[in-house]
Amino acid sequence: MQISKPKALRLNLIILIITTATLCLFGTASYVLYQSNHEITEELNKTSESIDQHLELQLFKVMNSFSPKDSFPDLSIWSETKRNTGLCMKYSDTKGNTIQQVCRGNTSLNKNWPLWFEKAYRSVFNPGQKSIKDITYNNQTYGLLTLIPDAELEIYLAWTDIKKLLGLSSITVFTLCSLLFIAIGRALKPANIIVSGLEEMSNGNLDLRLPPFAISEWHRTAKAVNHLADSLEKTLSDRQRLAFKLINVQEQERRFLTRELHDEFGQCLAGLQVNASSIIQMASEKYPELIPESQNISNITIHMMDLLRDMLLHLRPADIDSLGLPASLEGMVSQWNSTNNGRTKYEIEMSGDIDKMEEPIPSNIFRIVQECLSNISKHSQARTALVELKRSADDDIEDSLTLTVKDDGFADISSFNDSSGIGLLGIRDRVNALGGTFTLHENSPSGLAIQINIPLS
Ligand SMILES: Nc1ncnc2c1ncn2[C@@H]1O[C@H](COP(=O)(O)OP(=O)(O)OP(=O)(O)O)[C@@H](O)[C@H]1O
Ligand SMILES: [Mg+2]
Repeated sequence: MQISKPKALRLNLIILIITTATLCLFGTASYVLYQSNHEITEELNKTSESIDQHLELQLFKVMNSFSPKDSFPDLSIWSETKRNTGLCMKYSDTKGNTIQQVCRGNTSLNKNWPLWFEKAYRSVFNPGQKSIKDITYNNQTYGLLTLIPDAELEIYLAWTDIKKLLGLSSITVFTLCSLLFIAIGRALKPANIIVSGLEEMSNGNLDLRLPPFAISEWHRTAKAVNHLADSLEKTLSDRQRLAFKLINVQEQERRFLTRELHDEFGQCLAGLQVNASSIIQMASEKYPELIPESQNISNITIHMMDLLRDMLLHLRPADIDSLGLPASLEGMVSQWNSTNNGRTKYEIEMSGDIDKMEEPIPSNIFRIVQECLSNISKHSQARTALVELKRSADDDIEDSLTLTVKDDGFADISSFNDSSGIGLLGIRDRVNALGGTFTLHENSPSGLAIQINIPLS
């Protein structure tokens, strides 16, 4: 599954809150507008009913001669009453001729609402809708009363309501979001501490432990991470001890085999060679026909002695014990220079008290350099390879040994994991067993660089 670029949780939550607040605001604004329109319609209906009743009363008075005939209709009293909405009232006869018309309410409006609001309001609520009523007496219609509300005044009132609401709500939402942003940031702070702690642990700092947190979820997470680090540390130290033991056992075994082969088998071969030489000497005097056979035995014995020497060198380079690490490394490098027909030029640089280290460090360093040079010759096609061995034992710096092996060949580190070889794994195990660190990176401009650091104190 492909995961798109992850977004910050804090930002995500704030976007969610702002979206929800905007939706709520929109809902409230719609409700306020609906309510405002509803009130206006209610008021219009009430006004219409009250005028209707008064006109019918006026008609009744005129019909029963309680009032003079020309006193009907009289709309003037409504023009004086104060009310919110602007309204025009028109009384017309049954043929539609206007008899009387009065308007009241606010007529000089400050049109400060935006055009989009007016358009939206008009399309949703259709303000300024006329209301027409028949004026009847004794089931006979005498005229029509038309009420025409002032659409602009309606829009003005709705906009005033909305403006108040929007102003107040914007301040509330802004304050709320700011406070939430700070609060979420504080609540998520432990996540950053946990992530950087995990990153440090994955970089090898397994001594690090996460601090306790006040929020219980983070506290439990930190506890679980610390527990995991404890068991990982224990597993690694068990593994390190085991590797150390195995490597020591292997070296002891090799030392034993070398001694046995050298002392027993080597002595036998030497004896055989002495006998073969004396047979040749005797045969040349008395039995010349035995000379070729005796020479064969001597040649085979010499060949077996050569094989034995190589095998002993491989099992345990005698140089380390007799010559010390620096000389045996130099010997190994010159051996590679003489056997690879000049394809790769091997060099070695050493500094510090390298010859004063105790076993098992020298034999392990020897094995590691041996594997690195063998890899360079097998895989890198390098023109030059450099082995650097440095022991720093200043008073200020902790006593440690740094080994760097670089070449300028071809190396694709990403493909190393696919290899079925065990050389690099062996190096890693040796370094772990000695409590050191092992890093492997591509050399600049090309090739591979292996860096090993082993504490000596
Ligand atoms: N100096 C190097 N330059 C280029 N590639 C290298 C180098 N050293 C190691 N490699 C690559 O890393 C892989 C793993 O090396 P490793 O030593 O573990 O195995 P190997 O040499 O193939 O076999 P083994 O060492 O078990 O005989 C190699 O197969 C090779 O592809
Ligand atoms: Mg190898």
